[in-house]
Amino acid sequence: MSEPTPQTLTIIRPDDWHLHLRDGAALESVIADTARQFQRAVVMPNLQPPVTTGEQALEYRERILDALLKAGLPAQSFTPLMTLYLTDNTPADEIRGAHATGVIHAVKLYPAGATTNSDAGVTDLLGRCTDALEAMQDIGMPLLVHGEVTDPEVDLFDREAVFIDRVMIPLRKRFPELKVVFEHLTTKEGVDYVSQAEGPIAATITAHHLLYNRNAIFQGGLRPHWYCLPVLKRELHRKALVEAATSGSPRFFLGTDSAPHARGRKEHACGCAGCYTALHAMELYATAFEKAGRLDKLEAFASLNGPAFYGLPVNTGTLTLEKRSFNIPEAVPLGDDELIPLAAGEELGWSVRRA
Ligand code: DOR
Ligand code: ZN
Repeated sequence: MSEPTPQTLTIIRPDDWHLHLRDGAALESVIADTARQFQRAVVMPNLQPPVTTGEQALEYRERILDALLKAGLPAQSFTPLMTLYLTDNTPADEIRGAHATGVIHAVKLYPAGATTNSDAGVTDLLGRCTDALEAMQDIGMPLLVHGEVTDPEVDLFDREAVFIDRVMIPLRKRFPELKVVFEHLTTKEGVDYVSQAEGPIAATITAHHLLYNRNAIFQGGLRPHWYCLPVLKRELHRKALVEAATSGSPRFFLGTDSAPHARGRKEHACGCAGCYTALHAMELYATAFEKAGRLDKLEAFASLNGPAFYGLPVNTGTLTLEKRSFNIPEAVPLGDDELIPLAAGEELGWSVRRA
């Protein structure tokens, strides 16, 4: 007989290893959602213009900390882990300088044109970025990879699998000691690669890719709030992701990829990619782990594996989840606009206990 589900679950305070916080009024609207649940978050640099220099990352960090205070939260409640946006022209010295600040923890690879604000991204990683990659390998700074090819000939649903062959394998052959995080993994091919590859590789997995398959985008009509990149895949891929996340393997850890867009930018003839999950992130992950019968593996995934890979200390606080229903609001404010959270109007079986 299986163990009865506990009524509360207390884990070491988790971190979000992949997050979009945006800037300005949007940042001020969303920051508290993340800071309530997570002690730290790796903050994506795909602003407009992108965060390509150490100086810009330090300025962005100040704006995040200001927004935290404006939201009425104490400075020590949340630590942003900053990143640099890799371009074809990022100098190795920029990387070394950023690393030396102690607050910029990684470099993000967006293949040019792959997703939101990726126009300034990389056109040819091994042709243009070898100096930067060499420096990162040397100083132990992780490369965070949006792992999709942009070749229009490649089917949208195959772009991650093709990326492994065309980019990931050659990259890691050339730089075998480079720390690489395969961000927002979505396929069985990705899980198999990350599980079996040699050397310092890991992957983040979102809550939405654990809970939903691509049917969710089309259920009863076209549902733009379920559209993200990499796009939700078939059920067999979702199952492989659940198996990986709940396996206890230290190579897989939590990254929400929570990506706020104003409602009108999603409900549009050419809607933006991104699901907003910061509001109810741990509720969603707990739901996914409970469904898999593996709630006991949530702490490793959410609180232990990420710091181990990044070489950072484990948090000292805790977070308690209660088996109590959480009603996902229909909308939340985003500056003067509004934002539709993922699964708006639905109910989850877990709630984070308010501190
Ligand atoms: O769905 C996504 N939204 N995928 C990304 O890679 C970027 C993100 C965003 O910034 O909106
Ligand atoms: Zn992202």
